[in-house]
Amino acid sequence: MPDKLWNGSFTERTDRSVEAFTSSIAFDRRLYAYDIKGSIAHCRMLAKQSIISEDEASEIVEGLGRIARDLERGNFEFDDALEDIHMNIEGRLTAEVGKAAQKLHTARSRNDQVVLDIRMYLRDEVDNILERLTAFRSSLVKLADEHIRVIMPGYTHLRRAQPVLFSHYLMAYYEMFSRDRARFKGVLERINVMPLGSAALAGTTYPIDMAYTAKLLDFPEISANSLDAVSSRDFVIEFLAAASICMVHLSRLSEELILWASSEFGFVEIPDSFATGSSIMPQKKNPDVPELVRGKTGRVFGDLMALLTVMKGLPLTYNRDMQEDKEPLFDAVDAVKACLEVYEKLIPRLKVNRTAMEKAVLKGFLNATDMADYLVTKGMAFREAHRCTGEIVRYATGQTKELHELSLNELEKFSKLFSENIFELLTPQQMVNRRLSAGGTATENVVRAIQKAKEVTAREADKGQ
Ligand code: ARG
Repeated sequence: MPDKLWNGSFTERTDRSVEAFTSSIAFDRRLYAYDIKGSIAHCRMLAKQSIISEDEASEIVEGLGRIARDLERGNFEFDDALEDIHMNIEGRLTAEVGKAAQKLHTARSRNDQVVLDIRMYLRDEVDNILERLTAFRSSLVKLADEHIRVIMPGYTHLRRAQPVLFSHYLMAYYEMFSRDRARFKGVLERINVMPLGSAALAGTTYPIDMAYTAKLLDFPEISANSLDAVSSRDFVIEFLAAASICMVHLSRLSEELILWASSEFGFVEIPDSFATGSSIMPQKKNPDVPELVRGKTGRVFGDLMALLTVMKGLPLTYNRDMQEDKEPLFDAVDAVKACLEVYEKLIPRLKVNRTAMEKAVLKGFLNATDMADYLVTKGMAFREAHRCTGEIVRYATGQTKELHELSLNELEKFSKLFSENIFELLTPQQMVNRRLSAGGTATENVVRAIQKAKEVTAREADKGQ
């Protein structure tokens, strides 16, 4: 019989197909560095509490250090028969250190060990994501700043609605990604809880010191309930939810870039180094990067749904179903990081076609609301002004003219309240700059928003998060 770490009471060897089926080493090897750090802290705590001797602890810690170096150099053979990263490392430690290694698993179980590893892994990855979010948001702010006065059509129902600043548009995404950052930071608090010592489910009879382990591993908190500690994955679900929302934002931005870069819009150009060609149509330049970001969004939603579904019927405490938490988590982490990284690079390279945007603003009656508002300032009730302007729009359509191309004479046929000063109010610059309400698109508002965003992102970058 192979010497598994758990087969003392077994009378039959594990079937090979079961070994392959239950093994998670193919994917959880990613956790190796955290597994080793966690074991070293656990071992130090055991020694401090005199549960093992100082000599035994030194042997274990040195052994783990050597294994960490081997793993980094790729000098480690993973074994399916040893199921997962925890037992692969412990198996190697036992082979190297012998007797002392057999004491490492005192007062812990793989159930609390695995959740410790995931928590340590995820808090590092959330830190990475926070950093990338800051860099990406800075690139949005920089582009907004460079094109601060460019006016484009704002849309509702994908129909031209009212003129807005292109910079205001970019700053809308800045706001969304700022909330994403806050969400990830919130999740981080709940990730950052140390569970080791909960053991299999009920805690342990050994006089352990969880607060000490937490201190060694830089956790501000320890888990309050051992059953909860080994059986909950809501911190992963919450991460996947935050990741999904962030991907929604990335996907909407992608959709805009795909539309705007099309010849139908022509508002932006994606640099050649971020586009690809067609193998058959020589004229094509395809927006594959935004398309893939939009595509990966579906994957990340799938990761969230997968784990929600895995967890929904599970009785407390640990069930092997929970091994299925890792692949969706790793997949989502990789996707979010890759998307943020590629956009951080692409955004500053976008070519902005000011002429096309500003031409589009002049067609499609984007100044109709402003004409109605004008009538309101002259004393007409808004509903009536809306109806009156609607009639003017119908008339202008018949004349194949825009509102600002009508003469005062023509306007006066609809209302005597019109006078010559209506025309300056119908220019895009006036329409934009008069929208001074809080958060409105007026240039002075956007200038302030950009200034504030620059300060916020600089502070974040300074703090390394
Ligand atoms: N590989 C397992 C996982 O990822 C580790 C925990 C195994 N615990 C157990 N009782 N079989 O969930």
